[in-house]
Amino acid sequence: MKSQLSKLEALQVIDSRGNPTVAVRATLTDGAVGSASVPSGASTGQFEAIELRDTKDKAFGGKGVQQAVRNVVTEIAQTLSGADLSDQRAVDKAMLALDGTANKQRLGANAILGTSLAIAHAVAASRKMDLYEHLGGSSALTLPVPLVNVINGGAHANNSLDIQEFMIVPHGAKTFSEAMRMAAEVFKKLGSLLKDDGFETAVGDEGGYAPRLESQEQAFEYLMRAIERAGYQPGQQISLALDVASSELVKESAQGFTYKFEKSGDPKSYSAADLVELYATWATKYPIVSIEDGVSENDWDGWKTLTKHLGAKMQLVGDDLFVTNTERLRRGIEEQAANSILIKLNQIGTLTETLDAIAMASEAGFTSVISHRSGETGDTTIADLAVATNAGQIKTGSMCRGERVEKYNRLLWIEAKLGSRARYTSPF
Ligand code: PGA
Ligand code: ZN
Repeated sequence: MKSQLSKLEALQVIDSRGNPTVAVRATLTDGAVGSASVPSGASTGQFEAIELRDTKDKAFGGKGVQQAVRNVVTEIAQTLSGADLSDQRAVDKAMLALDGTANKQRLGANAILGTSLAIAHAVAASRKMDLYEHLGGSSALTLPVPLVNVINGGAHANNSLDIQEFMIVPHGAKTFSEAMRMAAEVFKKLGSLLKDDGFETAVGDEGGYAPRLESQEQAFEYLMRAIERAGYQPGQQISLALDVASSELVKESAQGFTYKFEKSGDPKSYSAADLVELYATWATKYPIVSIEDGVSENDWDGWKTLTKHLGAKMQLVGDDLFVTNTERLRRGIEEQAANSILIKLNQIGTLTETLDAIAMASEAGFTSVISHRSGETGDTTIADLAVATNAGQIKTGSMCRGERVEKYNRLLWIEAKLGSRARYTSPF
């Protein structure tokens, strides 16, 4: 059945960092309504689609999105008027053609993504389905293993840790709800251990603690103790994952790529090979199952070295490297750089292109980790996307901050709805 647009509304709303972002609401002629709001990164990749911001305005320090909002309600609304919105690929293609640039800089990836998602939600509502069912059909049954970011550093916290995200991975749970319980118990235990030792327990952008620890190793030690004190076996039930976000640590010169851990005051300059050695050493001491952006977005040779040495042992996730872009992912697959892709809707800017990236990864035997951004809203689309695609993993922050736990809570509802058909399996 054809679904047509009755009204497309957009509004500048506020994200979890106090920055403006785009919210869109689509109403169909049958009365069905769908809405979505767009997230925003801090450690953004160089090759991401462009968020349109009102840089010339004083309001919000030049971060307003009023032009993107205007683009939704004028040009985009006109283009989609009369179109069959149940054909998501055609909807997204029409917006790409209207934008006319390679990186969506004219209309803004924020304007385009907000619309793309609002329409998907509206069509799901019109079919009286949950979004995961609308997108994934009856085979959408896999609840993702969460990579729960309990210690924040890098660009997400004002502390001494260079690694951006230290995550716990409750892959030994039998169900998603058990995984939530395990993660929450470890998060609480970690908080009390840090507090007892006189460290700050205020949280960073993604809800993990942001203590002024002396070294990355000290963070690992706290994580191990928290897992054990909460009554779980590290490695068996709960493992560790990192997002090094090394595009933030790299120095590029004519001689190549070097990496520095400046926040923790480490004087050493690391080559990609040195980093591989460092990660390999950590992996002998701690149960690390996944490392994201272990080397930088331009260091393809470094990625190949990393994958050659550690790819058989652990998941190596390309975030800034791939930016959810099938052209960059194709190169990674061909050159055996990474073995996994981080999936962020707003890096590429439409639902269709995001689904294409997940499909390409899965065909090549790469895993996909569906991800939030450090700047978020209560929007829970990524929870449905994870189940719809059977991606198997999600990264959506810690066990606090509403904009993070909303996604987890949505997954709990999906698991409850799927009942005995729900699956939860360890990818590690
Ligand atoms: P960002 O961080 O949203 O600030 O880019 C998340 C990540 O690097 O995975
Ligand atoms: Zn990342």
